[in-house]
Amino acid sequence: MNKQHDISSVLTENRVFAPSKKFAAKAIVSSAKNLDKIRKAAEKNPVAFWEQCAAALQWDKKWKSALIWNYPFAQWFAGGKINASVNCLDRHLSSYRKNKAAIIWEGEPGDQRTLTYGQLHAEVCRAANVLKKFGIGKGDTVAIYMGMIPEAVIAMLACARIGAVHNVVFGGFSSDALRDRMLDMKAKLLVTQDGAFRRGTSVNLKDAADKAVAECPDITSVIVVRRSGENIQMCAGRDYWWGEVMKSATAINKPESLSAEHPLFALYTSGSTGKPKGILHTTGGYLTQVNFTSRIIFDLNDDDIYFCTADIGWVTGHSYVVYGPLSNGATVFMYEGAPNFPDAGRFWDMIERHRITILYTAPTAIRAFMKWGDSYVLKHDLSSLRLLGSVGEPINPEAWMWYRAVVGKNNCPIVDTWWQTETGAIMIAPIPGVVPTKPGSGTLPLPGIIADAVRRDGTSCEQNEGGYLVIKHPWPAMLRTIVGDDERYRKTYWSEFPPNENGEGGWYFTGDGARRDKDGYFWIIGRVDDVVNVSGHRLGTAEIESALVSHTTVAEAAVITRPDEIKGNALVAFVTLKSGADVPALHELREILRNHVAKEIGHIAKPDEIRFSEQLPKTRSGKIMRRLLREIVAEGKTSGDTTALEDFSVLEKLRATEEE
Ligand code: PRX
Repeated sequence: MNKQHDISSVLTENRVFAPSKKFAAKAIVSSAKNLDKIRKAAEKNPVAFWEQCAAALQWDKKWKSALIWNYPFAQWFAGGKINASVNCLDRHLSSYRKNKAAIIWEGEPGDQRTLTYGQLHAEVCRAANVLKKFGIGKGDTVAIYMGMIPEAVIAMLACARIGAVHNVVFGGFSSDALRDRMLDMKAKLLVTQDGAFRRGTSVNLKDAADKAVAECPDITSVIVVRRSGENIQMCAGRDYWWGEVMKSATAINKPESLSAEHPLFALYTSGSTGKPKGILHTTGGYLTQVNFTSRIIFDLNDDDIYFCTADIGWVTGHSYVVYGPLSNGATVFMYEGAPNFPDAGRFWDMIERHRITILYTAPTAIRAFMKWGDSYVLKHDLSSLRLLGSVGEPINPEAWMWYRAVVGKNNCPIVDTWWQTETGAIMIAPIPGVVPTKPGSGTLPLPGIIADAVRRDGTSCEQNEGGYLVIKHPWPAMLRTIVGDDERYRKTYWSEFPPNENGEGGWYFTGDGARRDKDGYFWIIGRVDDVVNVSGHRLGTAEIESALVSHTTVAEAAVITRPDEIKGNALVAFVTLKSGADVPALHELREILRNHVAKEIGHIAKPDEIRFSEQLPKTRSGKIMRRLLREIVAEGKTSGDTTALEDFSVLEKLRATEEE
């Protein structure tokens, strides 16, 4: 973490949007007064608040202690017994939900499947029996390397049912990444598929899986779902077709009654240094918070068709495609492929055809849609939509306004949800029927979440002063540790703000910078490692990017620094332009954009260099790889690891972007 004191936060946004009366009248939480009361009580006693939330789940045995806090290790609902798959499936079978759609799935080529709760339950029971037959039991790790097909969800829930720990590895990752994760987790079995459809072609997963498994001696069996139908090698005695092993399994399976702290899954995420960290989540607390947040923030009702566009390879897919919505008995819409196949209207077409009511996506996707042009959106009837969500990075106000007007027709509240792989569930977000929203702010922490923006010395920041975002009280869905490395867990998240000599304090450091405005709303400034210092001023790159994107010609921007003799750091902005925008000569546009940033933020934030490019280098989850941009600027080429990059041709193009 950077040791300087202040993080300058200079972008101000004054627009406020209250929830519409129509939305508020039907919302699950509709009384500001009640919410205020709940917030105040939860602030005094967060544990009691979370106990009430936990009571919404089905427990085999009630917990003895709601929280045992042995800094920095937490146990939530210790003594309690619970099963996540029972909460997502069995408990819905005694009502009309048995025949309600749990998953409506659409493949990229256009094929469709619907699984009712009754059918999903039967499939999960079969898969649980299959896993057991392959010798998988409580505490064993199953790796899942798949695309977005229902079997991925079935495999996850089957693990949860028998107490196996799942480790989903994003299908866009390389075989090396899969190997490293399987080795770290000592996974015993891998579930994968032949190939996954993406942008009209099939991405072969099995070949990559074979390469990885060859170096993982603990993997004894591989179960392969037939999806693309392409030719793959099956290794006799090790590889089995999912369809065949499922056929001979029964649909009756007694779930394991698991302790609340039983590990549910591990998911790997990158830090600013070192190898990816296996973030470990457990059962009772995680389920409590994903269940509560799904219901309250997405205002989930039984007649909603809810579409979260995240891949199950990311935490958003875990918490808000699988465990959160299914534990609420919701109907989840799941899509296999790319948002621009066969054209950039695919999402809007599916929303129209399936009458989707809730859309939860990422700013990077929203900016791509902006760039592709409004006509793809406007062609479709989106009147079914009633709520929009955003996650994954700060959403720049221009994108927020576009999302609201063009997609939501000024009718849908936007819930901008701040959280992390580590937090497991949403932490800061508006409660849509009650909390007025501001473009670019996640608004307030949820009841029971004690968050603050603090200075390096731990004192709270003043209004609008940028600082470090910390969580001051344990929360139920928090990570429990980093797999196999308690020390790294302590060092990464808990060493910046340790307890004082009286044992007070001891806060979780998020790695993000943030400020609070006069209403207490949080504004995320970006990762602290993306905070830059120019002429002694510290700025969040996200803010400069936001300013650039607010110009009518700009689709996307990434700001990095290069060393500068006088200023310490000079700002370099990579900018992609909107297609069809009215663009002057580039040297003129550079000046216009510099002046625009100066106007939006101030002269200190004016980029020293602006490079135009057709695309920015991104990971498959849509995060801009600023490290590669830094290398291109410093060395004219990249030297580090590029395995996470979605499209390698971007690098070639970027090298040619130098300002003339
Ligand atoms: O910097 C914050 C940003 O994404 C980080 C967490 O990334 P990851 O673990 O991959 O999880 C993404 C999905 C939850 C955070 O530290 N971030 C996430 N959501 C927001 C955000 N930044 C601003 N606003 C958000 N809504």
